[in-house]
Amino acid sequence: MKTPQLPLSILLSFLLLLLLSTSSQAQTPKCSVQDQGSTLEVFHIYSPCSPFRPSTPSLSWEESILQMQQKDQARLQFLSSLVVRRSVVPVASGRQIIQSPTYILRAKIGTPPQTLLMAMDTSNDAAWVPCSGCVGCPSSVAFASAESTTYKNLPCKSPQCSQVSNPTCGGWACLFNVTYGSSTIAANLSQDTFTLASDPIPNYTFGCIQKATGSSLPPQGLLGLGRGPLSLLSQSQNLYKSTFSYCLPSFKSLNFSGSLRLGPTGQPLRIKYTPLLKNPRRSSLYYVNLVAIRVGRKIVDIPPSAFAFNPTTGSGTIFDSGTVFTRLVAPAYTAVRDEFRRRVGRNLTVTSLGGFDTCYSVPIVVPTLTFMFSGMNVTLPADNLLIHSTAGSITCLAMAASPGDLNSVLNVIASMQQQNHRVLYDLPNSRLGVARERCS
Ligand SMILES: *[C@@H]1O[C@H](CO)[C@@H](O)[C@H](O)[C@H]1NC(C)=O
Ligand SMILES: *[C@@H]1O[C@H](CO)[C@@H](O)[C@H](O)[C@H]1NC(C)=O
Ligand SMILES: *[C@@H]1O[C@H](CO)[C@@H](O)[C@H](O)[C@H]1NC(C)=O
Ligand SMILES: *[C@@H]1O[C@H](CO)[C@@H](O)[C@H](O)[C@H]1NC(C)=O
Ligand SMILES: *[C@@H]1O[C@H](CO)[C@@H](O)[C@H](O)[C@H]1NC(C)=O
Ligand SMILES: *[C@@H]1O[C@H](CO)[C@@H](O)[C@H](O)[C@H]1NC(C)=O
Repeated sequence: MKTPQLPLSILLSFLLLLLLSTSSQAQTPKCSVQDQGSTLEVFHIYSPCSPFRPSTPSLSWEESILQMQQKDQARLQFLSSLVVRRSVVPVASGRQIIQSPTYILRAKIGTPPQTLLMAMDTSNDAAWVPCSGCVGCPSSVAFASAESTTYKNLPCKSPQCSQVSNPTCGGWACLFNVTYGSSTIAANLSQDTFTLASDPIPNYTFGCIQKATGSSLPPQGLLGLGRGPLSLLSQSQNLYKSTFSYCLPSFKSLNFSGSLRLGPTGQPLRIKYTPLLKNPRRSSLYYVNLVAIRVGRKIVDIPPSAFAFNPTTGSGTIFDSGTVFTRLVAPAYTAVRDEFRRRVGRNLTVTSLGGFDTCYSVPIVVPTLTFMFSGMNVTLPADNLLIHSTAGSITCLAMAASPGDLNSVLNVIASMQQQNHRVLYDLPNSRLGVARERCS
């Protein structure tokens, strides 16, 4: 049998084109490229494609790290509040807390579609967007419900109305209030077509925000990827089979985008899995069983209680895309940090930066760190472990202890430690997969 052959010159120019397109993508992001199939581009909130990047790009490295850390602190308060089921998140007085998640994606809402850059949040169920006329919403961009032919309010007696927090009736319409970080929102419970990449999802239930207070809201709304009743997974079960994966881009290379792939099609076949654990008291969080941590080849001596999963207290380990730096409960963090320092070298001076307590101002040889989950070891390379100042003058271990004042019981595997990995959430098989993938 004779296979047709492409002329070599065509092949070569094709290759060259490929190389050129990938390298030019490396420098300038293509912000307006439309998402195809069931895969959406994911941008860092500071990406040039993000309208939410700080207007003062002259933030120094230290300042931007400290800012992200401060946001993390608020995020952890939010996660702890979920765990202990407090409806109001404690807010440190006098300090403005920003708690918007770190990654955004393009969603289209209504008919004809209106594009909004929604924050993706794996620890939340609901979707909500600012609606035209919203009082106190942070952005001038809002969803104009009056311009959509498929928009509708859900009635008070709809089954969905009983699934939101604090529902009330405004006439026949279902209204609800919810707290997010230091913000509160008042919204109409509504339905419209959500289009993600090329997939229309008709009658998607979401909150149409009428009034907001505080400064924590993602400016163009939030898309919850948790697993509670009103989350994207629950509302698109037929389409996506409660399966998705993402690869988060590094915040060191803001010009890159990562991806969110929805549904079982196109997911990696070679990937390691650990079981997902269910906490009935907090159904939206993705708990896993972390059993040990290895630094270099040494399994660090950590009391098992530091990792124990307990649905009643909420303790255990979660994967979260909205926290930037991994937090371990104090006994676990201290043991890991001490072994890390020992491996780097006893004689080197350790300094601190903000909440990071293991920083060096000389070049260091870094040990690997392995999270040992049930059935899955994930060994992190230096890129996932260290933050370097651009000038190269300081390097820190990019993790910290869970804040003590929160009585924290949660270990959070955060986005810095997930970057450039594909993280697969496979709910039908109750498992979470992790594989290396360079997406930035
Ligand atoms: C990122 O893209 C901007 C233009 O959008 C360009 O000015 C900048 O140099 C790029 N940065 C990198 C690291 O490629
Ligand atoms: C929200 O609900 C109220 C009824 O309480 C209604 O008057 C209003 O038009 C609704 N707004 C939107 C955008 O659906
Ligand atoms: C919800 O918020 C609105 C507007 O801020 C307020 O008028 C209403 O009383 C709140 N409802 C509940 C049940 O808290
Ligand atoms: C969406 O809702 C409308 C009316 O509320 C209904 O006619 C239509 O069948 C629904 N579509 C789907 C796909 O459920
Ligand atoms: C630490 O420094 C001391 C004196 O400077 C030296 O004797 C010792 O060998 C060093 N230890 C290590 C582990 O490098
Ligand atoms: C993880 O690594 C340890 C050695 O540190 C090994 O004993 C264990 O079998 C590994 N687990 C998996 C699932 O590969």
